[in-house]
Amino acid sequence: MKIEGKDYRTIWFENNVVKIIDQTKLPHQFIVKDLKIVKDAINSIKTMEVRGAPLIGATAAYGLVLAIIEKNDQSFLKKSAEKLINSRPTAINLKWAVNRMMHKLSGVNSNKILEIALNEANTICEEDIKFCENIGINGLKIIEEIYNKKKDIVNILTHCNAGWLATINWGTATSPIYYAHKKGIPVHVWVDETRPRNQGANLTSYELNEEGIKNTIIADNTGGILMQRGEVDMCIVGTDRTLANGDVCNKVGTYLKALAAHDNNIPFYVALPSSTIDWNLKNYKDIPIEERNSQELSHMEGIDEKGNIQKIQIYPKKSKAMNLAFDVTPAKYVSGLITEKGICDASPEGLKKLFK
Ligand code: MRU
Repeated sequence: MKIEGKDYRTIWFENNVVKIIDQTKLPHQFIVKDLKIVKDAINSIKTMEVRGAPLIGATAAYGLVLAIIEKNDQSFLKKSAEKLINSRPTAINLKWAVNRMMHKLSGVNSNKILEIALNEANTICEEDIKFCENIGINGLKIIEEIYNKKKDIVNILTHCNAGWLATINWGTATSPIYYAHKKGIPVHVWVDETRPRNQGANLTSYELNEEGIKNTIIADNTGGILMQRGEVDMCIVGTDRTLANGDVCNKVGTYLKALAAHDNNIPFYVALPSSTIDWNLKNYKDIPIEERNSQELSHMEGIDEKGNIQKIQIYPKKSKAMNLAFDVTPAKYVSGLITEKGICDASPEGLKKLFK
């Protein structure tokens, strides 16, 4: 998708280096950063220079390519794989991508291993782009249906950033919106600010602006009143891990939006590629929920009048804060899952029908 009119992907490989867009600097600075060794990839995931479930999976895949360039040795590769998996706990795509790479690379002849690794990492990215395009084509039908009934601008609420910056291109939750916009359907997006890291305000609103899509940032607690006032036609969010029973783990606050949507009879859709489905875990309580540094709550970063990025403390120094990064929305509050293979019920039967 576009930044200042130029097409980008979020990650690419060039001259033995992995290039990423440093998302901790957006929207104020656009910086392309080089990841040169596997440790760089691990750090970029931990510090959220790259974030979003599909993108951290892709970064981990390229991280293994970097590990091979650094030291072509199976035991170093295995250790790197473990460290990459542990760099963030909640999004299943990370484990999925590392396991997929290791399945291809374990025991492979050292002369061939780099070529095979690079091919696989590139394929993971190409597939993700295709899947996100399909999510867009499938989700477009829902937006079209609402528009055909309403004959007026379709208001869509989203949470966090499940846009192209969270994937390789297109995004998951945003892909149907981009397709609707391209088709000439008037859409407007309510963008949850998404405290504490403000991925909605800093990333979703930014990328929608760059694509010329109308959007309004709202404080995280505003969605409920907008729904009561009839100003939300549908919600679409992404997910970091969806269980085979349809329970959806996503950025903290998603659950409250789903409850409000349910209470107001507003469709609540979750968009995801199949790499985000955890087929093994049975109980949502077993999903490892990331708890991040409380400084993400107590301190805020922004740009001052001179254009410099500044960090300030906003909480009383003595106060304790707790920063859980994800929550789980039970399947019963999800109207449907928009996947690369079609839309299905958030249920074991629905998912099984699409993914046999
Ligand atoms: O903590 P983040 O920014 O990595 O969280 C991202 C989200 O919760 C996204 O909504 C999710 O990964 C879906 S991305 C297509």
